Amino acid sequence: MPFRLIYSSEAAPDLATADLEVMLEESRIRNLARGITGVLVFVDGVFLQILEGEKDNVHDLMETIERDPRHHGIKVFHERETGERAFASWSMAYLSPSAEEVSRWAELDGATTIGSVLSSIESEPGRLPAMVVNILKVIAEPSPGTG
Ligand SMILES: Cc1cc2nc3c(=O)[nH]c(=O)nc-3n(C[C@H](O)[C@H](O)[C@H](O)COP(=O)(O)O)c2cc1C
Repeated sequence: MPFRLIYSSEAAPDLATADLEVMLEESRIRNLARGITGVLVFVDGVFLQILEGEKDNVHDLMETIERDPRHHGIKVFHERETGERAFASWSMAYLSPSAEEVSRWAELDGATTIGSVLSSIESEPGRLPAMVVNILKVIAEPSPGTG
């Protein structure tokens, strides 16, 4: 049964967009090889990542990610088995929304900083399924200009 883990972290202050792009490309190749799928959300210097895969693979990857100096303050706020993968088609989707957008995904009213959105999600994990569905809607939409 697939396993899903969701965490947040703070990016190292010197992490450049180019570094992020390289990291994402490398992650996609490794994830494909390990059967990991998911999404990386980057907003106002904060990462929110959803990892899916076989439990051991997800945990092994998470151990590596936790040691990565490109971020700190890792908070795992969800980990459990899931009937099916939500991000089966994405070795690692990437989104860089505003905090307000993440707030709408979590169906929160009035949370305007990523910190307040994350603390609401942590205290109300029941918001996570809606958030996953709303992220999926965004990544499944063709981006403007590609149609
Ligand atoms: C926010 C963040 C997300 C990451 N996500 C992944 C990922 O999904 N898959 C992956 O293989 N590496 C990911 N990495 C990179 C790993 O931490 C690590 O650098 C990479 O797996 C190579 O590990 P190795 O040098 O031990 O082989 C991520 C790093 C950061 C900072």
